[in-house]
Amino acid sequence: MEADRLVYRYADGRVALDGLSLRVEPGERLGIIGASGAGKSTFLLHLNGVLLPYSGVMKIDNEPVRRDNAMRIRSRVGIVFQNPDDQLFTPTVEEDIAFGPLNLGCSPEETRARVHTALAQMRLDGMEKRSTHELSFGEKRRVALATVLAMQPSVIGFDEPFANLDPGMVEQVVDLIRSLPATVILISQEILPALACTDRVAVFHHGKVAGIGPSFEIARDQALLRQCGIDFHFYGRIWDRIAAR
Ligand SMILES: Nc1ncnc2c1ncn2[C@@H]1O[C@H](COP(=O)(O)OP(=O)(O)O)[C@@H](O)[C@H]1O
Ligand SMILES: [Mg+2]
Repeated sequence: MEADRLVYRYADGRVALDGLSLRVEPGERLGIIGASGAGKSTFLLHLNGVLLPYSGVMKIDNEPVRRDNAMRIRSRVGIVFQNPDDQLFTPTVEEDIAFGPLNLGCSPEETRARVHTALAQMRLDGMEKRSTHELSFGEKRRVALATVLAMQPSVIGFDEPFANLDPGMVEQVVDLIRSLPATVILISQEILPALACTDRVAVFHHGKVAGIGPSFEIARDQALLRQCGIDFHFYGRIWDRIAAR
């Protein structure tokens, strides 16, 4: 994946991406961190043409993403949206997960196998017949992840996959992401799980990449993080204050 000087403006004129360039190698796992409003979600939506840039180019396997090839690109590039309600739209868990593979032209047997695997990967076994709108937020998030896994994309973008998950599930999602045979681009405000499952981290600031490097080097660069409005050491400082009493 390669983004070259992406510029994106929303209808109200707000510039969300301001000439952003970024390259991710096949099989790499890249984390994206940054203050709220830095442009992370807007960037992710460019991966498979949900949004198209005002100028600049997003390339997947050297192919520029355009309006006319976006549908084809989506069979290779999946995005797990921040809000699972944006991802789930059929009555049952099973139908939601089967939708992608069926759309790709998989046979009923192949589709069943993929649904089964995705359910097991997300620890959703036995929930196939449940109605998606009756699930808890955490369960919906797991089903949303399963719908993308079932497509077996070679590039997967995750927007805040750890938000509103209990700690045990965070650990499971970290392990899952580490085991995926795909290029992973992962947005997270929660920097610790992001560090645990990525090789490199990019720091977004005002629609640009302010810094990029090996995850643990970025985590140590307090000046960079502070300048970009990220407070990684927040819990540490609160703990110091409590412990000092
Ligand atoms: N639908 C929208 N309409 C107008 N402005 C938007 C919209 N979505 C996001 N923005 C603006 O674009 C900028 C980047 O937003 P976003 O990509 O959501 O940031 P992040 O995911 O890093 O929090 C912010 O200034 C935000 O207010
Ligand atoms: Mg966002």
